Amino acid sequence: MGEAPSNSIPRHVAVIMDGNGRWAEARGLPRKAGHRAGAESVREAVDACLEKGVKFLTLYAFSSENWNRPEKEINALMKLLEQFLRTKGKEFRKKNVRLRTIGRTHLLPESCRSELAKVINDTSSNTALTVILALSYGSREEITDATRRIAEKIARGELEPDQIEKDTIVEHLDTAEFPDPDFLIRTSGELRLSNFLLWQLSYAEFFITEKNWPDFRKSDFNAALEIYSRRQRRFGRV
Ligand code: IPE
Ligand code: IPE
Ligand code: MG
Repeated sequence: MGEAPSNSIPRHVAVIMDGNGRWAEARGLPRKAGHRAGAESVREAVDACLEKGVKFLTLYAFSSENWNRPEKEINALMKLLEQFLRTKGKEFRKKNVRLRTIGRTHLLPESCRSELAKVINDTSSNTALTVILALSYGSREEITDATRRIAEKIARGELEPDQIEKDTIVEHLDTAEFPDPDFLIRTSGELRLSNFLLWQLSYAEFFITEKNWPDFRKSDFNAALEIYSRRQRRFGRV
């Protein structure tokens, strides 16, 4: 079936990078200091994936609902994203990492979109690891957009309703070109999905840690992979 067997390295790891604000508040720092510190954890997660042979890493960086935060925090996050992308171009080229995105990225400020386009273009033929940034991403929005595109094809006569299969949905999601995540990591202890990859995580193994994202470093990532390797995935079978 193509699923990663148990006792192995997951092909695709998805991460809800949560707790930046709490990390900063615990140190008497502004929330944006936590977001900045989180960028270092991203670098270490990428390195861990490269060393262990994980092929896809999806990082939840900004949700559809995060647009409801105060404007000041949104602006700080967008500026950090832009700076992050400026440094990642070179690093990802050197490390043979390909960058992609999912989400309604057309809603991001132009300065972010142009940096994104640059890095995506410059790294498009890299093969060691694909890093997928979920930006302005919400799973319900994604499924809504996919449904609209399928309906448009039916309206144009390109598709019949009884031709809709599971794969039809898969092919219209933002994640169409990627395998489903095998492993979900959420930092900072919340026991929820927060509108992340609802369809794609159907059979993923979950790992939730109390550590905030800026404290979640390479050794933590490797320890999580070790826990994954001991899970038994059954996919409904005995
Ligand atoms: C995660 O950290 C980063 C984003 C959602 C952009 P938070 O900003 O949610 O940090 P907490 O959860 O408030 O601590
Ligand atoms: C989820 O974290 C989104 C990201 C990590 C980008 P949130 O902090 O937005 O989630 P909730 O609000 O606690 O569910
Ligand atoms: Mg949070």
